[in-house]
Amino acid sequence: MVYKWVVFFILLLKSNAKNIKKNNVLLILVDDLRPALGCYGDLNAYTPNIDKLAEKSVVFTRAYAQQALCAPSRNSLLTSRRPDTLHLYDFYSYWRNKNNYTTLPQYLKKNGYATKSIGKIFHPGISSNYSDDSPYSWTDVPFHPFTDKYKNTPVCFNNHGSELARNLVCPVNVTSMPRSTLPDLENLNAAKEYLSNYSKLKPFFLAVGFEKPHIPFKYPQEYLKFHPLSKFKLKNYYWPENITSLAYNPWIDLRQRDDINNLDLKFPWEKIPENFAAKIIQSYYAAVSYIDSLVGELLKKLIDLKLDKSTTVILTSDHGWSLGEHSLWAKYSNFDVAVRVPLIVSIPKKTKSKVYVKSIVELVDLFPTIAELVKLPIDVCGKVYSTTCSEGISFLPVISAYKNKIIRWKKAAFSQYPRPGLTPTWKPNSDEPRLNNIKIMGYTLRTARYRYTAWIPFNYTSNWDSIISQELYDHKNDPDEMINQQSNNNYLKIKTRLFKLLKSGWRKALP
Ligand SMILES: *[C@@H]1O[C@H](CO)[C@@H](O)[C@H](O)[C@H]1NC(C)=O
Ligand SMILES: *[C@@H]1O[C@H](CO)[C@@H](O)[C@H](O)[C@H]1NC(C)=O
Ligand SMILES: *[C@@H]1O[C@H](CO)[C@@H](O)[C@H](O)[C@H]1NC(C)=O
Ligand SMILES: *[C@@H]1O[C@H](CO)[C@@H](O)[C@H](O)[C@H]1NC(C)=O
Ligand SMILES: *[C@@H]1O[C@H](CO)[C@@H](O)[C@H](O)[C@H]1NC(C)=O
Ligand SMILES: *[C@@H]1O[C@H](CO)[C@@H](O)[C@H](O)[C@H]1NC(C)=O
Repeated sequence: MVYKWVVFFILLLKSNAKNIKKNNVLLILVDDLRPALGCYGDLNAYTPNIDKLAEKSVVFTRAYAQQALCAPSRNSLLTSRRPDTLHLYDFYSYWRNKNNYTTLPQYLKKNGYATKSIGKIFHPGISSNYSDDSPYSWTDVPFHPFTDKYKNTPVCFNNHGSELARNLVCPVNVTSMPRSTLPDLENLNAAKEYLSNYSKLKPFFLAVGFEKPHIPFKYPQEYLKFHPLSKFKLKNYYWPENITSLAYNPWIDLRQRDDINNLDLKFPWEKIPENFAAKIIQSYYAAVSYIDSLVGELLKKLIDLKLDKSTTVILTSDHGWSLGEHSLWAKYSNFDVAVRVPLIVSIPKKTKSKVYVKSIVELVDLFPTIAELVKLPIDVCGKVYSTTCSEGISFLPVISAYKNKIIRWKKAAFSQYPRPGLTPTWKPNSDEPRLNNIKIMGYTLRTARYRYTAWIPFNYTSNWDSIISQELYDHKNDPDEMINQQSNNNYLKIKTRLFKLLKSGWRKALP
Protein backbone atom coordinates (compact mmCIF):
# COMPACT_ATOMS: atom_id res chain seq x y z
CA MET A 1 0.00 0.00 0.00
CA VAL A 2 1.22 3.45 -0.81
CA TYR A 3 1.00 6.21 1.71
CA LYS A 4 -0.93 9.16 0.49
CA TRP A 5 0.26 12.24 2.17
CA VAL A 6 -0.39 15.82 2.28
CA VAL A 7 -1.58 18.09 -0.38
CA PHE A 8 0.97 20.78 -0.64
CA PHE A 9 4.23 21.68 -2.27
CA ILE A 10 7.37 22.91 -0.61
CA LEU A 11 7.83 26.55 -1.17
CA LEU A 12 11.35 27.33 -0.19
CA LEU A 13 11.35 30.40 1.87
CA LYS A 14 12.86 33.36 0.17
CA SER A 15 15.27 34.26 2.85
CA ASN A 16 16.38 37.82 2.89
CA ALA A 17 19.56 37.13 4.73
CA LYS A 18 20.30 40.76 5.31
CA ASN A 19 18.29 43.31 7.23
CA ILE A 20 16.06 40.77 8.85
CA LYS A 21 13.97 42.26 11.54
CA LYS A 22 13.48 39.34 13.88
CA ASN A 23 9.96 38.58 14.88
CA ASN A 24 9.00 38.19 18.49
CA VAL A 25 7.60 34.85 19.53
CA LEU A 26 4.83 34.31 22.07
CA LEU A 27 4.41 30.65 23.01
CA ILE A 28 1.25 29.92 24.98
CA LEU A 29 1.40 26.48 26.56
CA VAL A 30 -1.85 25.41 28.19
CA ASP A 31 -1.45 22.58 30.70
CA ASP A 32 -3.41 19.39 29.85
CA LEU A 33 -5.44 21.01 27.08
CA ARG A 34 -6.89 18.68 24.48
CA PRO A 35 -8.44 20.36 21.42
CA ALA A 36 -11.64 21.13 23.37
CA LEU A 37 -11.92 24.37 21.43
CA GLY A 38 -14.52 25.90 19.17
CA CYS A 39 -12.02 26.26 16.30
CA TYR A 40 -11.50 22.47 16.43
CA GLY A 41 -15.20 21.93 15.88
CA ASP A 42 -15.95 21.04 19.50
CA LEU A 43 -19.58 22.08 19.95
CA ASN A 44 -19.37 21.98 23.75
CA ALA A 45 -16.53 24.47 23.84
CA TYR A 46 -16.92 28.15 24.59
CA THR A 47 -13.58 29.64 23.52
CA PRO A 48 -14.24 32.85 21.56
CA ASN A 49 -10.75 34.27 22.05
CA ILE A 50 -8.75 31.26 20.91
CA ASP A 51 -11.21 30.88 18.03
CA LYS A 52 -10.46 34.48 17.07
CA LEU A 53 -6.73 33.77 17.12
CA ALA A 54 -7.41 30.78 14.86
CA GLU A 55 -9.06 33.09 12.33
CA LYS A 56 -5.61 34.22 11.24
CA SER A 57 -3.71 31.02 11.93
CA VAL A 58 -2.76 27.66 10.63
CA VAL A 59 -4.68 25.16 12.75
CA PHE A 60 -3.04 21.74 12.89
CA THR A 61 -5.60 18.99 13.29
CA ARG A 62 -3.06 16.19 13.71
CA ALA A 63 -0.52 17.42 16.24
CA TYR A 64 0.85 14.97 18.80
CA ALA A 65 2.81 14.99 22.05
CA GLN A 66 5.63 12.48 22.51
CA GLN A 67 4.40 11.28 25.90
CA ALA A 68 1.17 12.05 27.73
CA LEU A 69 2.83 13.25 30.92
CA CYS A 70 3.92 16.79 31.82
CA ALA A 71 7.66 16.57 32.52
CA PRO A 72 8.63 14.15 29.72
CA SER A 73 6.50 16.01 27.20
CA ARG A 74 7.75 19.47 28.16
CA ASN A 75 11.41 18.47 28.21
CA SER A 76 10.92 16.76 24.87
CA LEU A 77 9.26 19.83 23.36
CA LEU A 78 11.85 22.24 24.77
CA THR A 79 14.91 20.19 23.73
CA SER A 80 13.39 18.67 20.59
CA ARG A 81 14.49 15.22 21.79
CA ARG A 82 12.29 12.23 22.28
CA PRO A 83 11.69 10.64 25.68
CA ASP A 84 13.94 7.69 24.70
CA THR A 85 16.80 10.10 24.05
CA LEU A 86 16.31 12.07 27.26
CA HIS A 87 15.60 8.85 29.12
CA LEU A 88 12.96 10.83 30.92
CA TYR A 89 9.62 9.05 31.31
CA ASP A 90 8.95 10.27 34.85
CA PHE A 91 9.76 13.47 36.77
CA TYR A 92 13.06 12.52 38.29
CA SER A 93 16.08 13.40 36.18
CA TYR A 94 17.66 16.45 34.59
CA TRP A 95 19.05 15.88 31.12
CA ARG A 96 22.07 18.18 31.51
CA ASN A 97 23.54 15.82 34.06
CA LYS A 98 24.07 13.40 31.14
CA ASN A 99 23.86 15.39 27.92
CA ASN A 100 24.05 19.12 27.62
CA TYR A 101 21.30 19.46 25.03
CA THR A 102 20.42 22.99 23.98
CA THR A 103 16.84 24.07 24.61
CA LEU A 104 14.67 26.17 22.34
CA PRO A 105 14.77 29.25 24.63
CA GLN A 106 18.51 28.76 25.23
CA TYR A 107 19.11 28.72 21.48
CA LEU A 108 17.11 31.90 20.96
CA LYS A 109 18.79 33.57 23.91
CA LYS A 110 22.21 32.73 22.49
CA ASN A 111 21.12 34.27 19.20
CA GLY A 112 20.05 37.63 20.50
CA TYR A 113 16.60 37.05 21.97
CA ALA A 114 15.35 38.12 25.35
CA THR A 115 13.72 34.97 26.73
CA LYS A 116 11.20 34.85 29.53
CA SER A 117 9.26 32.07 31.22
CA ILE A 118 5.99 32.82 32.98
CA GLY A 119 4.04 30.13 34.83
CA LYS A 120 4.50 26.47 33.93
CA ILE A 121 6.84 26.02 30.96
CA PHE A 122 9.40 23.54 32.23
CA HIS A 123 7.98 21.09 34.70
CA PRO A 124 9.11 22.25 38.14
CA GLY A 125 11.44 20.11 40.26
CA ILE A 126 14.39 17.90 39.39
CA SER A 127 13.52 17.62 35.72
CA SER A 128 14.47 21.29 35.26
CA ASN A 129 17.06 21.38 38.09
CA TYR A 130 14.62 23.23 40.42
CA SER A 131 15.23 26.35 38.36
CA ASP A 132 13.26 26.01 35.12
CA ASP A 133 16.65 25.35 33.53
CA SER A 134 17.91 28.76 34.57
CA PRO A 135 20.15 30.45 33.80
CA TYR A 136 20.72 28.50 30.55
CA SER A 137 17.29 28.95 29.01
CA TRP A 138 16.14 32.30 30.29
CA THR A 139 17.37 35.87 30.22
CA ASP A 140 15.42 36.80 33.37
CA VAL A 141 14.41 34.82 36.39
CA PRO A 142 11.33 32.73 35.51
CA PHE A 143 8.08 33.95 37.03
CA HIS A 144 5.92 31.74 39.23
CA PRO A 145 2.71 32.93 40.83
CA PHE A 146 2.78 33.47 44.57
CA THR A 147 -0.55 31.65 44.93
CA ASP A 148 0.86 28.43 43.45
CA LYS A 149 1.50 27.49 47.05
CA TYR A 150 -2.25 27.17 47.65
CA LYS A 151 -2.51 24.63 44.84
CA ASN A 152 -3.68 21.86 47.12
CA THR A 153 -5.21 23.92 49.88
CA PRO A 154 -8.75 22.85 50.69
CA VAL A 155 -10.83 25.72 49.31
CA CYS A 156 -13.91 24.07 47.86
CA PHE A 157 -16.99 23.08 49.79
CA ASN A 158 -17.70 19.37 50.11
CA ASN A 159 -20.99 17.77 49.16
CA HIS A 160 -22.74 19.03 52.29
CA GLY A 161 -21.53 22.59 51.81
CA SER A 162 -20.03 22.75 55.28
CA GLU A 163 -16.37 21.73 55.35
CA LEU A 164 -13.66 22.77 52.95
CA ALA A 165 -12.15 19.99 50.87
CA ARG A 166 -9.46 19.22 48.30
CA ASN A 167 -11.88 18.54 45.53
CA LEU A 168 -11.37 17.73 41.88
CA VAL A 169 -14.38 19.80 40.88
CA CYS A 170 -13.81 23.18 42.46
CA PRO A 171 -15.36 26.31 40.94
CA VAL A 172 -14.49 29.20 43.26
CA ASN A 173 -15.35 32.75 44.16
CA VAL A 174 -12.05 34.46 43.36
CA THR A 175 -12.69 37.29 45.83
CA SER A 176 -12.66 34.83 48.68
CA MET A 177 -9.44 33.11 47.58
CA PRO A 178 -6.08 33.87 49.24
CA ARG A 179 -4.98 37.31 47.98
CA SER A 180 -8.22 37.40 45.95
CA THR A 181 -6.56 35.84 42.94
CA LEU A 182 -5.62 32.57 41.24
CA PRO A 183 -2.26 31.46 39.77
CA ASP A 184 -3.25 31.96 36.15
CA LEU A 185 -4.56 35.47 36.87
CA GLU A 186 -1.11 36.21 38.29
CA ASN A 187 0.51 34.64 35.24
CA LEU A 188 -1.56 36.82 32.95
CA ASN A 189 -0.62 39.97 34.88
CA ALA A 190 3.07 39.08 34.79
CA ALA A 191 2.89 38.46 31.04
CA LYS A 192 1.12 41.77 30.45
CA GLU A 193 3.68 43.55 32.59
CA TYR A 194 6.54 41.90 30.69
CA LEU A 195 5.09 43.12 27.41
CA SER A 196 4.54 46.64 28.79
CA ASN A 197 8.16 46.73 29.95
CA TYR A 198 9.45 45.43 26.64
CA SER A 199 12.09 47.86 25.39
CA LYS A 200 12.44 46.64 21.78
CA LEU A 201 16.22 46.43 22.17
CA LYS A 202 16.01 42.73 21.43
CA PRO A 203 13.25 40.57 20.03
CA PHE A 204 11.52 38.52 22.74
CA PHE A 205 10.64 34.90 23.19
CA LEU A 206 7.91 34.95 25.82
CA ALA A 207 6.62 31.60 27.00
CA VAL A 208 3.43 31.76 29.04
CA GLY A 209 2.38 28.52 30.68
CA PHE A 210 -1.21 28.59 31.90
CA GLU A 211 -1.79 26.00 34.62
CA LYS A 212 -5.45 25.14 34.02
CA PRO A 213 -7.30 23.02 32.90
CA HIS A 214 -4.87 20.78 34.84
CA ILE A 215 -6.59 19.35 37.92
CA PRO A 216 -7.90 20.39 40.38
CA PHE A 217 -10.53 22.24 38.38
CA LYS A 218 -10.20 25.39 40.44
CA TYR A 219 -11.48 28.24 38.32
CA PRO A 220 -13.73 31.29 38.70
CA GLN A 221 -17.26 29.98 39.12
CA GLU A 222 -18.74 32.46 36.64
CA TYR A 223 -17.42 30.35 33.74
CA LEU A 224 -19.99 27.71 34.59
CA LYS A 225 -22.67 29.92 33.01
CA PHE A 226 -21.37 28.94 29.55
CA HIS A 227 -21.66 25.27 30.36
CA PRO A 228 -25.02 23.97 31.60
CA LEU A 229 -24.62 20.42 32.89
CA SER A 230 -27.28 19.16 30.47
CA LYS A 231 -24.85 19.78 27.60
CA PHE A 232 -22.50 17.01 28.66
CA LYS A 233 -23.19 13.45 27.64
CA LEU A 234 -20.72 10.66 28.17
CA LYS A 235 -19.39 9.04 25.05
CA ASN A 236 -17.91 5.54 24.85
CA TYR A 237 -17.99 5.34 28.64
CA TYR A 238 -16.77 1.74 28.93
CA TRP A 239 -13.59 -0.28 28.65
CA PRO A 240 -13.78 -2.16 25.33
CA GLU A 241 -13.30 -5.86 24.87
CA ASN A 242 -9.96 -6.94 23.41
CA ILE A 243 -7.87 -4.02 24.57
CA THR A 244 -4.96 -5.00 26.80
CA SER A 245 -5.13 -3.83 30.42
CA LEU A 246 -1.71 -2.25 29.72
CA ALA A 247 -3.55 0.46 27.85
CA TYR A 248 -5.69 1.30 30.89
CA ASN A 249 -4.64 4.13 33.19
CA PRO A 250 -6.45 4.05 36.53
CA TRP A 251 -6.46 7.90 36.94
CA ILE A 252 -4.90 7.72 40.38
CA ASP A 253 -4.46 11.50 40.59
CA LEU A 254 -8.26 11.93 40.39
CA ARG A 255 -8.83 9.30 43.06
CA GLN A 256 -6.67 11.27 45.44
CA ARG A 257 -9.04 14.25 45.42
CA ASP A 258 -11.58 14.30 48.27
CA ASP A 259 -14.74 14.33 46.15
CA ILE A 260 -13.61 11.30 44.09
CA ASN A 261 -12.25 9.48 47.12
CA ASN A 262 -15.66 9.91 48.78
CA LEU A 263 -17.26 7.91 45.97
CA ASP A 264 -15.55 4.76 47.34
CA LEU A 265 -14.82 3.34 43.90
CA LYS A 266 -13.34 -0.10 43.63
CA PHE A 267 -9.81 0.12 42.20
CA PRO A 268 -9.04 0.00 39.31
CA TRP A 269 -12.09 -0.72 37.15
CA GLU A 270 -15.17 0.71 38.85
CA LYS A 271 -16.38 3.74 36.94
CA ILE A 272 -17.24 7.16 38.28
CA PRO A 273 -21.07 7.38 38.33
CA GLU A 274 -22.37 9.12 35.22
CA ASN A 275 -23.87 12.12 36.98
CA PHE A 276 -20.56 12.90 38.63
CA ALA A 277 -18.64 12.12 35.44
CA ALA A 278 -20.69 14.76 33.62
CA LYS A 279 -19.69 17.31 36.27
CA ILE A 280 -16.01 16.54 35.66
CA ILE A 281 -16.43 17.16 31.95
CA GLN A 282 -18.39 20.34 32.64
CA SER A 283 -15.62 21.68 34.85
CA TYR A 284 -12.95 20.79 32.32
CA TYR A 285 -14.77 22.86 29.69
CA ALA A 286 -15.39 25.71 32.15
CA ALA A 287 -11.69 25.77 33.09
CA VAL A 288 -10.86 25.92 29.37
CA SER A 289 -13.23 28.90 28.95
CA TYR A 290 -11.44 30.60 31.86
CA ILE A 291 -8.06 30.13 30.16
CA ASP A 292 -9.57 31.26 26.88
CA SER A 293 -10.52 34.58 28.44
CA LEU A 294 -6.97 35.02 29.78
CA VAL A 295 -5.56 34.25 26.33
CA GLY A 296 -7.91 36.92 24.99
CA GLU A 297 -6.58 39.49 27.44
CA LEU A 298 -2.99 38.60 26.61
CA LEU A 299 -3.59 38.94 22.87
CA LYS A 300 -5.40 42.22 23.44
CA LYS A 301 -2.33 43.50 25.28
CA LEU A 302 -0.19 42.65 22.23
CA ILE A 303 -2.54 44.68 20.06
CA ASP A 304 -2.71 47.61 22.50
CA LEU A 305 1.08 47.78 22.54
CA LYS A 306 1.16 47.43 18.73
CA LEU A 307 3.25 44.30 19.04
CA ASP A 308 0.78 42.06 17.23
CA LYS A 309 2.20 42.81 13.77
CA SER A 310 5.67 41.71 14.84
CA THR A 311 4.82 38.75 17.06
CA THR A 312 4.29 35.15 16.05
CA VAL A 313 1.79 33.49 18.38
CA ILE A 314 1.80 29.75 18.94
CA LEU A 315 -0.78 28.10 21.19
CA THR A 316 -0.44 24.47 22.14
CA SER A 317 -0.40 22.08 25.09
CA ASP A 318 1.80 19.39 26.62
CA HIS A 319 -0.69 16.58 25.90
CA GLY A 320 -4.40 15.79 25.84
CA TRP A 321 -6.82 14.46 28.46
CA SER A 322 -9.36 11.64 28.44
CA LEU A 323 -12.85 12.87 29.30
CA GLY A 324 -14.48 9.51 30.01
CA GLU A 325 -13.63 7.88 26.68
CA HIS A 326 -12.81 4.19 27.33
CA SER A 327 -14.00 4.97 30.91
CA LEU A 328 -10.67 6.76 31.32
CA TRP A 329 -9.73 10.14 32.74
CA ALA A 330 -6.62 12.28 32.60
CA LYS A 331 -3.51 11.64 30.53
CA TYR A 332 -1.19 8.66 31.19
CA SER A 333 -2.05 6.67 28.05
CA ASN A 334 -1.33 6.20 24.38
CA PHE A 335 -4.87 6.85 23.17
CA ASP A 336 -5.44 9.66 20.70
CA VAL A 337 -7.35 11.71 23.29
CA ALA A 338 -4.27 11.66 25.54
CA VAL A 339 -1.53 12.36 23.00
CA ARG A 340 -3.30 14.70 20.59
CA VAL A 341 -2.84 18.42 21.23
CA PRO A 342 -4.18 21.65 19.77
CA LEU A 343 -1.61 23.56 17.73
CA ILE A 344 -2.46 27.02 16.43
CA VAL A 345 0.23 29.05 14.69
CA SER A 346 -0.27 32.70 13.79
CA ILE A 347 2.57 34.36 11.87
CA PRO A 348 2.17 38.05 10.95
CA LYS A 349 1.85 38.61 7.19
CA LYS A 350 2.06 34.89 6.57
CA THR A 351 -1.06 33.30 8.04
CA LYS A 352 -3.75 35.74 7.01
CA SER A 353 -6.82 33.57 7.33
CA LYS A 354 -7.75 30.31 9.01
CA VAL A 355 -6.31 27.26 7.31
CA TYR A 356 -6.77 23.75 8.65
CA VAL A 357 -3.80 21.50 8.02
CA LYS A 358 -3.97 17.73 8.33
CA SER A 359 -0.25 17.14 7.99
CA ILE A 360 1.05 15.13 10.92
CA VAL A 361 3.19 17.20 13.25
CA GLU A 362 4.77 16.53 16.63
CA LEU A 363 5.74 18.71 19.56
CA VAL A 364 9.43 17.95 18.86
CA ASP A 365 8.87 19.91 15.63
CA LEU A 366 8.29 23.21 17.43
CA PHE A 367 11.96 23.95 18.13
CA PRO A 368 13.16 23.51 14.50
CA THR A 369 10.07 25.36 13.23
CA ILE A 370 10.62 28.40 15.44
CA ALA A 371 14.35 28.27 14.66
CA GLU A 372 13.65 28.33 10.93
CA LEU A 373 11.04 31.03 11.36
CA VAL A 374 13.62 33.36 12.92
CA LYS A 375 16.11 32.39 10.19
CA LEU A 376 18.34 30.34 12.46
CA PRO A 377 17.55 26.83 11.19
CA ILE A 378 18.91 23.79 13.04
CA ASP A 379 19.75 20.33 11.70
CA VAL A 380 17.99 17.05 12.22
CA CYS A 381 20.06 14.97 14.64
CA GLY A 382 22.33 12.63 12.71
CA LYS A 383 24.86 10.01 13.60
CA VAL A 384 27.33 12.56 14.94
CA TYR A 385 26.56 13.76 18.45
CA SER A 386 25.50 17.36 18.65
CA THR A 387 24.07 19.35 21.53
CA THR A 388 22.02 21.48 19.15
CA CYS A 389 19.92 19.47 16.73
CA SER A 390 16.37 18.24 16.42
CA GLU A 391 14.55 14.93 16.50
CA GLY A 392 11.75 16.61 14.64
CA ILE A 393 11.55 18.74 11.51
CA SER A 394 10.45 22.26 10.82
CA PHE A 395 6.83 22.39 9.66
CA LEU A 396 7.27 25.85 8.21
CA PRO A 397 7.21 24.36 4.67
CA VAL A 398 3.69 23.12 5.38
CA ILE A 399 2.64 26.60 6.48
CA SER A 400 4.32 28.25 3.49
CA ALA A 401 2.98 25.77 0.96
CA TYR A 402 0.73 26.92 -1.81
CA LYS A 403 -2.67 25.32 -2.02
CA ASN A 404 -3.22 22.49 -4.49
CA LYS A 405 0.39 21.53 -4.63
CA ILE A 406 1.80 18.40 -3.13
CA ILE A 407 4.30 18.30 -0.34
CA ARG A 408 5.72 15.04 0.89
CA TRP A 409 5.44 14.93 4.61
CA LYS A 410 5.97 12.84 7.74
CA LYS A 411 4.28 9.46 7.63
CA ALA A 412 3.60 9.22 11.34
CA ALA A 413 3.73 10.77 14.79
CA PHE A 414 5.47 8.76 17.52
CA SER A 415 4.57 8.68 21.19
CA GLN A 416 5.17 6.30 24.06
CA TYR A 417 3.99 5.41 27.55
CA PRO A 418 5.66 3.26 30.21
CA ARG A 419 4.11 0.74 32.63
CA PRO A 420 5.46 -1.06 35.68
CA GLY A 421 3.52 -4.28 34.98
CA LEU A 422 0.74 -5.95 33.04
CA THR A 423 -2.16 -4.72 35.12
CA PRO A 424 -3.10 -1.34 36.59
CA THR A 425 -1.61 -0.90 40.08
CA TRP A 426 -1.69 1.82 42.70
CA LYS A 427 1.73 0.81 44.07
CA PRO A 428 3.79 1.16 42.02
CA ASN A 429 1.67 3.85 40.42
CA SER A 430 1.01 2.48 36.95
CA ASP A 431 0.01 5.94 35.71
CA GLU A 432 3.38 7.42 36.65
CA PRO A 433 5.99 4.66 36.99
CA ARG A 434 9.48 5.71 37.99
CA LEU A 435 12.31 4.82 35.63
CA ASN A 436 13.55 1.93 37.74
CA ASN A 437 10.04 0.43 37.93
CA ILE A 438 9.39 0.47 34.22
CA LYS A 439 9.01 -3.06 32.86
CA ILE A 440 7.02 -2.44 29.71
CA MET A 441 7.06 0.38 27.17
CA GLY A 442 4.08 1.08 24.96
CA TYR A 443 5.24 2.55 21.67
CA THR A 444 2.58 4.06 19.49
CA LEU A 445 2.37 5.73 16.12
CA ARG A 446 -0.38 7.60 14.38
CA THR A 447 -0.59 7.74 10.60
CA ALA A 448 -3.26 9.60 8.69
CA ARG A 449 -5.52 6.56 9.05
CA TYR A 450 -4.28 4.29 11.82
CA ARG A 451 -3.07 4.19 15.36
CA TYR A 452 -0.83 1.23 16.07
CA THR A 453 0.62 0.46 19.51
CA ALA A 454 3.05 -2.25 20.58
CA TRP A 455 3.80 -2.97 24.25
CA ILE A 456 7.26 -4.44 24.59
CA PRO A 457 9.59 -5.48 27.43
CA PHE A 458 11.70 -2.68 28.83
CA ASN A 459 14.66 -2.76 31.17
CA TYR A 460 16.19 0.68 30.85
CA THR A 461 16.20 0.02 27.12
CA SER A 462 13.52 -1.58 24.96
CA ASN A 463 13.61 -5.16 23.81
CA TRP A 464 12.02 -5.26 20.37
CA ASP A 465 12.45 -9.03 20.03
CA SER A 466 9.15 -9.74 21.70
CA ILE A 467 5.76 -8.07 21.74
CA ILE A 468 3.56 -8.35 24.82
CA SER A 469 0.38 -6.82 23.38
CA GLN A 470 -0.70 -4.84 20.37
CA GLU A 471 -3.44 -2.40 19.47
CA LEU A 472 -4.55 -1.31 16.05
CA TYR A 473 -7.30 1.25 15.50
CA ASP A 474 -8.65 2.21 12.11
CA HIS A 475 -9.65 5.85 12.33
CA LYS A 476 -11.60 5.57 9.10
CA ASN A 477 -14.37 3.64 10.82
CA ASP A 478 -13.33 3.94 14.47
CA PRO A 479 -12.27 7.52 15.25
CA ASP A 480 -12.69 6.91 18.98
CA GLU A 481 -10.31 3.93 19.09
CA MET A 482 -12.85 1.54 20.61
CA ILE A 483 -12.24 -1.50 18.36
CA ASN A 484 -8.86 -3.17 18.56
CA GLN A 485 -8.24 -4.76 15.16
CA GLN A 486 -4.99 -6.41 16.09
CA SER A 487 -6.42 -9.94 15.81
CA ASN A 488 -8.42 -9.18 12.66
CA ASN A 489 -6.83 -10.96 9.68
CA ASN A 490 -7.98 -8.26 7.28
CA TYR A 491 -5.51 -5.95 8.98
CA LEU A 492 -2.59 -8.36 9.13
CA LYS A 493 -0.59 -6.72 6.36
CA ILE A 494 -1.00 -3.18 7.61
CA LYS A 495 -0.24 -4.29 11.15
CA THR A 496 3.04 -5.87 10.03
CA ARG A 497 3.99 -2.75 8.12
CA LEU A 498 3.17 -0.44 11.02
CA PHE A 499 5.13 -2.59 13.46
CA LYS A 500 8.15 -2.29 11.18
CA LEU A 501 7.78 1.48 10.99
CA LEU A 502 7.31 1.75 14.76
CA LYS A 503 10.42 -0.33 15.43
CA SER A 504 12.50 1.63 12.89
CA GLY A 505 11.43 4.83 14.61
CA TRP A 506 10.81 8.45 13.72
CA ARG A 507 13.66 8.87 11.20
CA LYS A 508 12.12 6.36 8.85
CA ALA A 509 8.90 8.34 8.85
CA LEU A 510 10.47 11.58 7.68
CA PRO A 511 9.63 12.82 4.19
C1 LIG B 1 21.74 22.41 38.96
O1 LIG B 1 21.60 23.35 39.99
C2 LIG B 1 22.63 23.31 40.95
C3 LIG B 1 22.25 24.23 42.12
O2 LIG B 1 21.94 25.51 41.65
C4 LIG B 1 23.94 23.69 40.30
O3 LIG B 1 24.99 23.65 41.25
C5 LIG B 1 24.21 22.69 39.18
O4 LIG B 1 25.38 23.05 38.48
C6 LIG B 1 23.04 22.64 38.21
N1 LIG B 1 23.25 21.57 37.25
C7 LIG B 1 23.67 21.79 36.00
C8 LIG B 1 23.95 20.59 35.18
O5 LIG B 1 23.82 22.90 35.54
C1 LIG C 1 26.28 23.25 29.01
O1 LIG C 1 26.21 24.26 28.03
C2 LIG C 1 26.14 25.57 28.56
C3 LIG C 1 25.92 26.55 27.44
O2 LIG C 1 26.81 26.34 26.42
C4 LIG C 1 27.43 25.86 29.35
O3 LIG C 1 27.35 27.14 29.91
C5 LIG C 1 27.58 24.82 30.45
O4 LIG C 1 28.79 24.99 31.12
C6 LIG C 1 27.52 23.42 29.88
N1 LIG C 1 27.47 22.47 30.97
C7 LIG C 1 28.15 21.33 30.97
C8 LIG C 1 27.97 20.45 32.17
O5 LIG C 1 28.87 21.02 30.05
C1 LIG D 1 -17.49 36.23 46.84
O1 LIG D 1 -16.78 36.43 48.06
C2 LIG D 1 -16.85 37.76 48.52
C3 LIG D 1 -15.90 37.88 49.70
O2 LIG D 1 -15.95 36.79 50.53
C4 LIG D 1 -18.28 38.10 48.86
O3 LIG D 1 -18.37 39.43 49.29
C5 LIG D 1 -19.13 37.93 47.61
O4 LIG D 1 -20.49 38.13 47.91
C6 LIG D 1 -18.95 36.54 47.01
N1 LIG D 1 -19.61 36.50 45.74
C7 LIG D 1 -20.44 35.51 45.40
C8 LIG D 1 -21.03 35.59 44.01
O5 LIG D 1 -20.68 34.59 46.14
C1 LIG E 1 8.78 45.50 34.69
O1 LIG E 1 9.63 46.60 35.06
C2 LIG E 1 9.59 46.91 36.44
C3 LIG E 1 10.36 48.16 36.66
O2 LIG E 1 11.64 48.07 36.07
C4 LIG E 1 10.12 45.72 37.22
O3 LIG E 1 10.07 45.98 38.59
C5 LIG E 1 9.29 44.48 36.92
O4 LIG E 1 9.85 43.36 37.56
C6 LIG E 1 9.23 44.25 35.43
N1 LIG E 1 8.28 43.17 35.20
C7 LIG E 1 8.55 42.10 34.46
C8 LIG E 1 7.47 41.06 34.37
O5 LIG E 1 9.60 41.92 33.88
C1 LIG F 1 -12.27 -9.83 20.18
O1 LIG F 1 -11.32 -10.71 19.61
C2 LIG F 1 -11.84 -11.95 19.25
C3 LIG F 1 -10.72 -12.80 18.69
O2 LIG F 1 -9.56 -12.69 19.46
C4 LIG F 1 -12.94 -11.80 18.23
O3 LIG F 1 -13.53 -13.07 17.99
C5 LIG F 1 -14.00 -10.84 18.77
O4 LIG F 1 -14.94 -10.60 17.76
C6 LIG F 1 -13.37 -9.55 19.20
N1 LIG F 1 -14.37 -8.70 19.80
C7 LIG F 1 -14.55 -7.44 19.42
C8 LIG F 1 -15.62 -6.68 20.12
O5 LIG F 1 -13.86 -6.90 18.57
C1 LIG G 1 17.93 -5.44 33.63
O1 LIG G 1 19.19 -4.94 33.22
C2 LIG G 1 20.18 -5.00 34.24
C3 LIG G 1 21.43 -4.29 33.74
O2 LIG G 1 21.71 -4.62 32.42
C4 LIG G 1 20.42 -6.46 34.61
O3 LIG G 1 21.38 -6.54 35.63
C5 LIG G 1 19.11 -7.07 35.08
O4 LIG G 1 19.29 -8.45 35.32
C6 LIG G 1 18.03 -6.88 34.03
N1 LIG G 1 16.75 -7.33 34.57
C7 LIG G 1 15.95 -8.15 33.94
C8 LIG G 1 14.68 -8.50 34.64
O5 LIG G 1 16.22 -8.61 32.84
